[in-house]
Amino acid sequence: LSASFTLDPAFTVAPVSRRTFGSFVEHMGRCVYTGIYEPSHPTADADGFRQDVLALTRELGVSVVRYPGGNFVSGYRWEDGIGPVADRPVRRDLAWHSLETNEIGIDEFMRWARKAGVEVMYAVNLGTRGVQEALDVQEYLNQPDRTHLARLRQANGTTEPYGITMFCLGNELDGPWQTGHKTAHEYGRLAMETARAMRSAEPGLELVACGSSSSSMPTFAAWEAEVLELTYDAVDYISAHAYYEPIDGDLGSFLASAVDMDHFVTSVAATADSVGAKLKSRKKLKISFDEWNVWYQSAFQATQETEWQVAPRVIEDAYTVADAVVVGNLLISLLRHSDRVTAACQAQLVNVIAPIRTEPGGPAWRQTIFHPFALTSRLARGEVLRVEPQSPTYDTARFGLVPLLDAVATHDAETGDVTVFVVNRHLTDSLDLAVPLSGFRAGLRVTESWTLADEDLYAMNTADDPERVVPGPAKDADITDGVLRASLPPVSWTAIRLT
Ligand code: AHR
Repeated sequence: LSASFTLDPAFTVAPVSRRTFGSFVEHMGRCVYTGIYEPSHPTADADGFRQDVLALTRELGVSVVRYPGGNFVSGYRWEDGIGPVADRPVRRDLAWHSLETNEIGIDEFMRWARKAGVEVMYAVNLGTRGVQEALDVQEYLNQPDRTHLARLRQANGTTEPYGITMFCLGNELDGPWQTGHKTAHEYGRLAMETARAMRSAEPGLELVACGSSSSSMPTFAAWEAEVLELTYDAVDYISAHAYYEPIDGDLGSFLASAVDMDHFVTSVAATADSVGAKLKSRKKLKISFDEWNVWYQSAFQATQETEWQVAPRVIEDAYTVADAVVVGNLLISLLRHSDRVTAACQAQLVNVIAPIRTEPGGPAWRQTIFHPFALTSRLARGEVLRVEPQSPTYDTARFGLVPLLDAVATHDAETGDVTVFVVNRHLTDSLDLAVPLSGFRAGLRVTESWTLADEDLYAMNTADDPERVVPGPAKDADITDGVLRASLPPVSWTAIRLT
């Protein structure tokens, strides 16, 4: 089998947005406690942060981290998490039926973010709270001086404002499971008033209105349309959330998850543009794909029946080779839509459906899905290029005929370097890839190449065998007569860098 694609430096989509490589830390399960924070761990620093997790976060190439939720934020009181730790209240977290000790709050998390070298995207609670509490947390975070909450932050040890620019106006308020769930009209009005008030304090903020919590919601698109009719002028982004898993063992459809993500993005963009047209606005909204990943959601047991616990084990999915190929492909989809999707957060960072796993008191390790994320974040540079794949197709139960090859490329006009990212979705056969390179600087050579594939599609990394699945050099990756060639193994993700 063979496949190719046309690549031309003139066919640009948009610059690679660093925020595409975002992640998500929610007060959920063991993401925060025994994830990023574990004061008794042998690697803990003076602030109680696990340095093994900090090092892996940096290696992952994370740019921005959404915080503090998620469903958690819809019942969260941010002021519980400031001031002397001994005085902080323990609260019920209704979203995950857990106890929140508030040992980590804004000031601690911002300290962690600085150490990790990441921007913070802060979500305000529009579930149980409203305009005033959003203004208060904004004041605590961003007001330089002189006001009550700026002085409180200073009294708590942080003189300079945190300067957060990107705020999510709530989380998944279309979902009946959400504490403080709302109709589109109720949410749209609240989001509009919150955005207007926050902007009157800081006009330059980047604000995200909640889109649907998945494209399978019965209100999908209608929710976006109604919310945006109410908020269009006051927000910059509409959010999108999507999780994928093999349904009934249908690996072929699962490997084509990026087809669904493409469709999701174009549907949300079309809905936003139609509202813009109706409002006679020239403004184009961007998409913040601020929750995405593989999640074995059908195996998820709601925790309502169990005891109230601090940091219970919740959705600690172990990821396979096939999952990593899908994650690599979802990143291809996000890059392909860089003209609209300029921020995206893989959910989540540690332990909870995460690329990084830890054991309390024990090791931290890279799950299979760590690798395509880290490599894409490191190698995607410059402009995203539109590619035109020529590929055989295969039939899927969920999406009909789907190309076996998916691809995207980036081109750094300053250095002339090119990176191609490709996926072979065939379950048993390799694909011979050929990419003519006319139009690029002469003398390009393959200087780095990586493939993630394995004869055992279900192989995983574990605490005992953390390096079972690692990427290796791409097979036969070379340039001959101006054509890049490589052999793509079945069910594989590959990145090839040309310099
Ligand atoms: O990431 C896990 C959960 O998935 C988040 O809390 C919620 O926003 C989504 O439904």
